[in-house]
Amino acid sequence: MPKVTLHKGGAVFEDEVADNSNLVVRAGIRKFPYPNLAYRCGMGKCATCSSRILSGAEHLPPPNWKEKKMLGERLEDGYRLICQLWITHDLELAQDE
Ligand code: FES
Repeated sequence: MPKVTLHKGGAVFEDEVADNSNLVVRAGIRKFPYPNLAYRCGMGKCATCSSRILSGAEHLPPPNWKEKKMLGERLEDGYRLICQLWITHDLELAQDE
């Protein structure tokens, strides 16, 4: 099972999730990383779920068109839209606001 580590507001939250989990879908049903994950639309339209990937980016698929549209140059800084990702490997991410 993939291990997910979320850095947020100076704290670190960590848990295992089922293979092929979407973290926004999980948060929507009040499972980890609820209530610590910021998100809104769940559809790649608001960028509220933007997160900087600290490790595990090599296992993620290439950014889709929604991520390219919403994140632009931030993609090069390691940002992804978490609602657009299904997790299959360990992932460490930060939501810094
Ligand atoms: S939650 Fe709106 S873009 Fe991901």
